[in-house]
Amino acid sequence: MKKNTILSCTSRRQAAEQVADQFLAAEAQRARRMAYAPYSSFPVGAAVLTREGGIFTGCNVENASYGLTVCAERNALARAVSEGHREILAIAIAADTPEPVSPCGACRQVLAEFNPRMKVIMLGRGGRRSVSTLDRLLPGAFTKRSLKHTK
Ligand code: THU
Repeated sequence: MKKNTILSCTSRRQAAEQVADQFLAAEAQRARRMAYAPYSSFPVGAAVLTREGGIFTGCNVENASYGLTVCAERNALARAVSEGHREILAIAIAADTPEPVSPCGACRQVLAEFNPRMKVIMLGRGGRRSVSTLDRLLPGAFTKRSLKHTK
C-alpha cells in the first residue's frame, strides 16, 4: 500500500467517511476550548455533521444554578437545527479524559429526535477514540414514531 493512503479502507466511500470523521473529531476538539465549565472543570466539545455536509459545533455551558447547565452535544445540535438542518448523520464528542466519554442520557434522547441511527464518535485524550451509533447507545428510544401509536 502506498505511504499516503488511508490504511484499512476498502472503498472510496469508506475513505471519504474516515476523512469526514477525522475532520468532525478535530472540530469537536476545537470547540472544547470554548467550554464554559467553571464549576465542573470538565470541558466538553461537540460537532455534528448534517446531511448537507455542514458542521456545527458546541461546548458545554454551565451555570451557577447547576441544573441549568447545557451539554456540548445539545448546544451543537441546537445550532444545526437553528440553521435549518434537521438530519444529523454523525456527532463527535471530545473531552480531555483518559477514555472517551459517551453522551449523557438526556443528550441521547435529544439527539434521537434528529436521527436515532446517527454515528457517535467519542474522543478522549491523545487520540483515544470509540465509535458507536445512537441506537446502540439508546436502544428502544421514545421517538416521534412512538407518539403515533396512541390511537
Ligand atoms: N457534559 C457534556 O457537555 N457532555 C457530556 O457528554 C457529558 C457531560 C458536561 C456537563 C457538565 O458541564 C460537565 O460536562 C460535567 O458533567
